[in-house]
Amino acid sequence: MFNLILFGPPGSGKGTQSEKLIARYGWKHLSTGDLLRSEISRQTKLGKAAQTYMDKGRLVPDEVVIGMITSALDENPDANGFLFDGFPRTPAQAEALDEMLQKRKEAISVMLALEVSEEELVKRLIKRGQTSGRSDDNNDQVIRARIVEYQTKTAAVSDYYKQFDKVVMVKGEGSVSEIFERLCMEIDNRLN
Ligand code: AP5
Ligand code: MG
Repeated sequence: MFNLILFGPPGSGKGTQSEKLIARYGWKHLSTGDLLRSEISRQTKLGKAAQTYMDKGRLVPDEVVIGMITSALDENPDANGFLFDGFPRTPAQAEALDEMLQKRKEAISVMLALEVSEEELVKRLIKRGQTSGRSDDNNDQVIRARIVEYQTKTAAVSDYYKQFDKVVMVKGEGSVSEIFERLCMEIDNRLN
């Protein structure tokens, strides 16, 4: 079983590349952002609570996303692998994920970390905000807040996996297909 964390700041291309990766490798895609937006569109209690954080560009509390991922792992016992997108986002989430996987006699195979300049991130998110309907994309201040949350809380997650020698940096600028090829090369080197 292959368990990949696709890591990177907001707008680095995690969602774009995840779609292509699951089409090629057949893993189960677990995006906490997508799961939260689905809760919001169904107006669940969890969704309403999460929205107040997301609209400000702040991280949703750890226990909420950890609970969602625990359920998703339980609901997919036959998956040939998981692609974690936008999770874990704090060291506490990373530790919880490791524990969940250990219980299933599994582990993270690799973390591929997309590197993109801040200028490019902001440019991409503002552009997407014109059409995405995502409330956290069409306000410059919220986009900046998301990047600050990444720098202050999430960047440390790559240090956590570095201690286990599991982090590979991948250049996240260029065309979508160029970046996809870079990711596939790193994955194929580690399969089997
Ligand atoms: P989430 O949905 O995870 O959003 P994010 O991390 O802010 O990142 P995005 O989804 O905006 O970017 P992406 O890296 O997926 O890039 P994409 O492929 O879309 O989280 C949203 C919120 O939910 C968080 O702020 C938080 O509140 C909450 N949340 C989620 N997970 C959480 C967790 N674990 N803990 C706590 N809270 C959590 O690409 C971006 C744009 O760029 C697109 O328009 C795309 O078309 C374009 N693009 C992609 N690749 C390229 C390229 N190579 N060249 C040019 N443009 C490109
Ligand atoms: Mg995304």
